[in-house]
Amino acid sequence: MAVFFFAAILIALAITITALTGTPEQIADSVEPAAPNKDVLIVYAVGVPYRTISELSAADVDKVSGATPASYNTRAISSELASKLRARGFSVTLKTVEDVRSHREIFEYRVLVAATPVRFWNMSWMMKKFFDEIFARIYVAEKACFRDWPVAGIVMAEISDSAEAALGTIRSVLQDCGTDLSLSSYFLTNYSSVEREDEMDKLAEGIAKLVRDRLIID
Ligand SMILES: Cc1cc2nc3c(=O)[nH]c(=O)nc-3n(C[C@H](O)[C@H](O)[C@H](O)COP(=O)(O)O)c2cc1C
Repeated sequence: MAVFFFAAILIALAITITALTGTPEQIADSVEPAAPNKDVLIVYAVGVPYRTISELSAADVDKVSGATPASYNTRAISSELASKLRARGFSVTLKTVEDVRSHREIFEYRVLVAATPVRFWNMSWMMKKFFDEIFARIYVAEKACFRDWPVAGIVMAEISDSAEAALGTIRSVLQDCGTDLSLSSYFLTNYSSVEREDEMDKLAEGIAKLVRDRLIID
């Protein structure tokens, strides 16, 4: 009898403590992330580079999940951006969306860059999965920490209107999570090398400014 009584008291105590302080998961989430100590995290989604959509025939379509020449796709844009930023002295990590395991990685960097191909006027499903899974934790538990976090969005497309629309879909995720797109950029498959180079320089300079502004605030 005394054992049951003692056990009941212990259970009631445990329930009270959990109610007051949160589950272990909630406690971990509520720990304020340390100030970021690295500069830029570039997260990109890829298809399998092949060729442009306008060059595809109906018979080709099921062979591809991405449609751009290898030197001109989202992966190439992202790694070129990483090189430009490193050349300016910034610490940069380049990762595919699949390689980001936790929302906490994002908090280690002063600026997040998200790069995706455009699929049907939207971000690609891999980028959407990244936002759905990784940003869910920010949306639910870390919105306050993420408020006004600097994020740049890059899309690779054939048509500028759909590039703008896809950037809009990224923007709405960020706005739901307490921030916004600080900077956006698109690369079109028909850009000349000069247009591509100009956009890349503008983008690298914009991201460099986001990092510097963040350093001043921190
Ligand atoms: C299924 C599919 C849908 C696409 N939808 C669009 C679109 O809505 N607008 C656009 O401009 N390009 C669209 N494209 C073209 C790609 O966005 C473009 O080729 C892009 O450069 C692909 O980048 P990636 O090689 O990194 O995947 C689409 C391509 C595929 C395969």
